[in-house]
Amino acid sequence: MKTSKTTENQQGKYFLATFGCQMNEYDSNMIGAMLENRGMAATEDAAQADVLIVNTCSIRGGAEDRAYARIAAMKYHKRQRPGVRIAVIGCMAQNHGDKIPASLEHVDYVVGPDNYKELEGLIFSEVAPSERKVWTDQNDFENYEGLMARLDGTVSSHITIMRGCNKQCAYCIVPNVRGVERSRDVESILAEVRHAVNEGIHEVCLLGQTVNSYRTDTDNFAGLIRKVNAVEGLKRVRFMSPHPRHFDPETIRAMAECGKVCNHVHLPLQSGSNAMLKKMRRQYTRERYLEIVAELRAAIPNVAITTDIITGFVGETESDFEDTLSLMNEVRFDHAFMFSYSPREGTPAFGETETLTAEEKQARLERVIEAQMKHTEERLDALLGREEELLIEERSSRDSREWMGKTRCFKKVIVPEVAGVEKGAFVRARISERRGIVLRGEVITQAVPAEK
Ligand code: SAH
Ligand code: SF4
Ligand code: F3S
Repeated sequence: MKTSKTTENQQGKYFLATFGCQMNEYDSNMIGAMLENRGMAATEDAAQADVLIVNTCSIRGGAEDRAYARIAAMKYHKRQRPGVRIAVIGCMAQNHGDKIPASLEHVDYVVGPDNYKELEGLIFSEVAPSERKVWTDQNDFENYEGLMARLDGTVSSHITIMRGCNKQCAYCIVPNVRGVERSRDVESILAEVRHAVNEGIHEVCLLGQTVNSYRTDTDNFAGLIRKVNAVEGLKRVRFMSPHPRHFDPETIRAMAECGKVCNHVHLPLQSGSNAMLKKMRRQYTRERYLEIVAELRAAIPNVAITTDIITGFVGETESDFEDTLSLMNEVRFDHAFMFSYSPREGTPAFGETETLTAEEKQARLERVIEAQMKHTEERLDALLGREEELLIEERSSRDSREWMGKTRCFKKVIVPEVAGVEKGAFVRARISERRGIVLRGEVITQAVPAEK
């Protein structure tokens, strides 16, 4: 969970806690910009805030539990200062609607992802919170065109290019809470990228639930990345998450030809079993997934491939599970986010009786984690001795005299302090050592990547 950064102001302060994925982070920054344009300032201290906002996630049961605990804890602030306004927003707000204020009376507003424009009126109205607390009408067209997210001090700027999702993966709550897919206008995306560059940002990451299905009247995803690549002053382009179904040769060609597009692809797999992929409604097979990996590796030198995996989906047999392990062994992912299946009410698979106990799902999760650890280390070791470009992101969490930077292939590397090097700088480093899953390196030169 991240909280917003502190800034100066006179019009009252807001505290905003964000759970969930980068698209929630983006929305929080967009709401932050909205409130700051009205003169409010962010605070990281909830006790100082006039408005408390929790941006929530519903992806798994655990994500909801954490959000509920955070919201419940805010009762203290309402008791101390009854004038404080508390808003629960985001995917769980959409998912649970009325249930939230029914169980947590101190919540003033519940606002879903298509209703963030309401927040401004609610927060700045002189009138005390009204009868209507829940704002969850869905709007298939709401894209927040014209709004730009605040830059939150991170070196890489994440920019949402599409909202919603048109897939119906059997386990997934996202289409229910985020609504149908809608792509933002190219010009407004480019304006946001240029704004970030003017503010000193060198790297952008384009976000969408199936980011490569981006499409407008004039552009598709390949066209968009070519246009983003052409933005002067920008040095690196990333995107997340592409869906295997939409990984066409045109996109791979654009990636290979655009010098700023980084050699890293996060390509969610979910399962290596065709039976499970079909049941999950993923719209690709194991063979097709492997083909995309091969195409990416042929087109993009040293491309890093990361993924998401779910273990223990309804009906997953030992042999299905072994298909996942064997695919992992074949691909040897650079990194993976791995989850035990969490049934979500309202999703297509929810009605089906689970075939595995929580312990069995957990045991499979541990087996994929163990397999992945080996591959992660192996991929990191492959970088030893190499010279890599790093974008310095922040101080090392272990030792504040050292810096953490990321390679173009998205690996963290720790380097010692060097005169003149600071956050946001590029250096070239020789990778010298792996400690656990962290690489260490020595700075060779400070270097700004050439425009390509
Ligand atoms: N749009 C992305 C995924 C977004 S959700 C895609 O299609 O790949 C991020 C990850 O959460 C998913 O890739 C999946 O691995 C996991 N996930 C989603 N729903 C889940 C559930 N019900 N139980 C466990 N993991 C889940
Ligand atoms: Fe969920 Fe599937 Fe959409 Fe990803 S593509 S957000 S997993 S429904
Ligand atoms: Fe969670 Fe919503 Fe993202 S459910 S993963 S915050 S789109």
